[in-house]
Amino acid sequence: MLSLIADLLEREIGLSLECIGEDALRSAVTRHMRDRGIFDQARYIDALSSREFAEELIELVVVPETWFFRDRKSFDFLGSYVGREWLGACRADNLRILSMPCSTGEEPYTIVMALLDAGFPLERIQVDALDVSPKLLEIAKEGVYGPSSFRGKNLAFKQRHFQPAGEYFSILDSVRSRVRFLKDNVVGQDAGSTLGQYDIIFCRNLVIYLAQWARRKLMGLIDRLLTPEGLLFIGHTETMAFEGGGFKKNAGSGLFVCKRPQDKEESRIQVQSHGVGKPLRVKSAVQAPRVRPSTKNPGPLEESGRSGASGETYYQCALQLADQGKLIEASRACLEALGEAPMHLGANFLMGLIFMEMRQEDEAAKYFEKVIYLNPDHDQALDYVATIEANRSNSMRADRLRQWARRIREK
Ligand SMILES: C[S@@+](CC[C@H](N)C(=O)[O-])C[C@H]1O[C@@H](n2cnc3c(N)ncnc32)[C@H](O)[C@@H]1O
Repeated sequence: MLSLIADLLEREIGLSLECIGEDALRSAVTRHMRDRGIFDQARYIDALSSREFAEELIELVVVPETWFFRDRKSFDFLGSYVGREWLGACRADNLRILSMPCSTGEEPYTIVMALLDAGFPLERIQVDALDVSPKLLEIAKEGVYGPSSFRGKNLAFKQRHFQPAGEYFSILDSVRSRVRFLKDNVVGQDAGSTLGQYDIIFCRNLVIYLAQWARRKLMGLIDRLLTPEGLLFIGHTETMAFEGGGFKKNAGSGLFVCKRPQDKEESRIQVQSHGVGKPLRVKSAVQAPRVRPSTKNPGPLEESGRSGASGETYYQCALQLADQGKLIEASRACLEALGEAPMHLGANFLMGLIFMEMRQEDEAAKYFEKVIYLNPDHDQALDYVATIEANRSNSMRADRLRQWARRIREK
């Protein structure tokens, strides 16, 4: 029974049994069965097919451990970084930060407190904070905390940013007002779909619990959400996972901050050697739209099957038309397919190819980006976006995407 439940949790939230451990899972399941008065294993498995019931189990399995100023060095660094980059450079824009995942809110509130303590103006701070657990998010919005949220010796921030609430402490409204809490599943189909880009992302103490495919999906999400020059704060034990995902940890020891690799010379050479701007023949590329669904996660092609036969029929028709070189007609059929099934991986990819052939790279990029969003392992789409980025003189991103595509092919 445990392995069935582990599969479900991995599918739903990317959780790896190896990482949380069998004992932790067994005790969560035992507690859930007891709370729900179900003592028969088959009945319990049956009940898990209900979304609400499965979400109850997810609430019991996630690890909510967090506290204010967890890894203080990171927040000291954040304060000095914004002092240099924003205040020193007189930047006029707001500072956008994402805390993903945020658990009960200590991390996003700490970000606001650290920025205020560094002299950053309150009204220019925008923090989005997301988590998969509605229960934890409720606690976060409430903003009332007990002793386990205040650890370590240096607790002077408590006097500045909290007010007593009985035996507890309530975060000041001014701090609370800068954080927007959102429910989101970082490995879900629509992960981050409502979010823009961020100057800084905190993604700490989540990747360690995730299966390989879920890690890759998370890296793809961060790549999409982080501005090219953006900073990524990670947990102490997570350096290898993020470096494998194309980020580079700050050379300074004891600091867990990453950036994208900045080696311009290297990226210039690699971009040139890939034949930037070479026209691509739709016909040959379309005949074999190569998609590699990741090992355990059902790939988006399978998911597209759910969206009805007519989307698939239009797509097949679009493929034939593209094969005959009838690109306008093919694009119409493809748009019909996408009207029926917007997440259809093949149709999005084909639209990208058609626009490439028509030399409309900006349009092509939109579709290829969507393909990557749907399947971060789509090496062909990664290569196309790399080519487009290189043509836009965005050699750093081009280089990163190519490296990523190469890593996928080598796997
Ligand atoms: C250990 S906490 C990390 C909190 C904070 N970042 C920190 O480092 O203190 C891990 C959080 O990840 C959340 N989580 C687990 N799987 C998730 C998923 N697939 N999407 C979003 N959040 C997830 C859990 O609900 C939990 O709140």
